[in-house]
Amino acid sequence: MVESAPAPTAASVAQPGISIRNVSKWFRRHDGSPPVHALSDIKLDIAPNTFVSLVGPSGCGKTTLLRMLNGLIAPESGTILVDGEPPSCGPHTGMVFQSFRLMPWRTIRANVAFPLELQGAPSSQCAERADFYLSMMGIRRFADSYPHELSGGMQQRAALARALITEPALLLMDEPFAALDAQTREFMQIEVMKIRQTLKSIVVFVTHSVDEAVLLSDQVVMMRPRPGRIAEVIDVNLPQPRWEYDARATPEFVSMRHYLWEGIKEMVVSDPESEFYQRDRAVTSESAKD
Ligand SMILES: Nc1ncnc2c1ncn2[C@@H]1O[C@H](COP(=O)(O)OP(=O)(O)O)[C@@H](O)[C@H]1O
Ligand SMILES: [Mg+2]
Repeated sequence: MVESAPAPTAASVAQPGISIRNVSKWFRRHDGSPPVHALSDIKLDIAPNTFVSLVGPSGCGKTTLLRMLNGLIAPESGTILVDGEPPSCGPHTGMVFQSFRLMPWRTIRANVAFPLELQGAPSSQCAERADFYLSMMGIRRFADSYPHELSGGMQQRAALARALITEPALLLMDEPFAALDAQTREFMQIEVMKIRQTLKSIVVFVTHSVDEAVLLSDQVVMMRPRPGRIAEVIDVNLPQPRWEYDARATPEFVSMRHYLWEGIKEMVVSDPESEFYQRDRAVTSESAKD
C-alpha cells in the first residue's frame, strides 16, 4: 500500500538559516570520572547571511556547539536544523581550525582542491577552482609549494581557501587565528570581512578575543561555563564595511568590547575551577554573608 505524504505543517516547512532548540550535551567518560555537562538548554536562531561569534571562558562549550553544527557531535536532547535539515558533514559546510590541518605530502593547490576531489570533480576543474581561491587569498604564487614552505599566516590562508572551494552555505571557524602573530591576525580579520561580503553565507566563528568578535560579527553570543550555556546575545550594529575605517576607535566598539570583557572576566574569577579564581574575593563575600 502506498501512503500519501502528510501535508506540510508550519513546523515542517524548511526555514532558511540555523535553528538551535533546547540543545543539551553531556560527555561521559569511561574512566569513571563524573560526566561533563558541556551544553545546557541552548536556544539560538541564526538568520541567513549572518556572521555570529561565540565567546566565553575555556570549557563553556564553544567547540562542542560548532562540532554539532557540522554534524560531528549529535545533541543529546533538543534539535538543530540548518536550512531545515539536521546538520551533516559535506560540501555545504566549510570548517577552519586553529591548527591548519593541511596535508604535508600534498602541494598547496592539491590541499585546497581536496574537498572538490572528494566530490568527484574532474582534476582540471579542481586545479582551476583551487587557483581561483588561492588568488582570492593572495597566495596563488605558492600553489606548487608544500605547507612547510609557507608561514603560519599563509598556511591559514590556504586552509581558508580549502574551506571556501565548495562555496559552503555555512562556514564554521574554531579560533582560526589563535596561532598567528598579532599583525598577521589583523590582516586575516580584514580578509575574512572581505570574503564574507562576497560569500553571503552564515559564518559561525569561535574566538577568545572579544575585540575580534565585535569587529567581525553581526551578533556576539556570550557563553558561560559549567554547564555551557548562552549568557547573552549582543547585536553589533557598527557600519559595514568595517575595514574602511578604524572601527576599534569608535565609542560603540569600545563600550561593547568593555561590556563583553567585563562579563567574561567576572565568569572566570568567580569560577572555583578556574586557575584565575579569586579566593580572596570569595572569602570576603562568604564573610559578608555571616
Ligand atoms: N570528547 C570529550 N570528552 C569529554 N569531555 C569533553 C569532550 N569534549 C569536550 N569536553 C568537555 O566539555 C566542556 C566543553 O568543551 P569545549 O566545547 O571544548 O569548550 P570550549 O571550546 O568553549 O573551550 C569542557 O568541560 C570539556 O572538557
Ligand atoms: Mg574550543
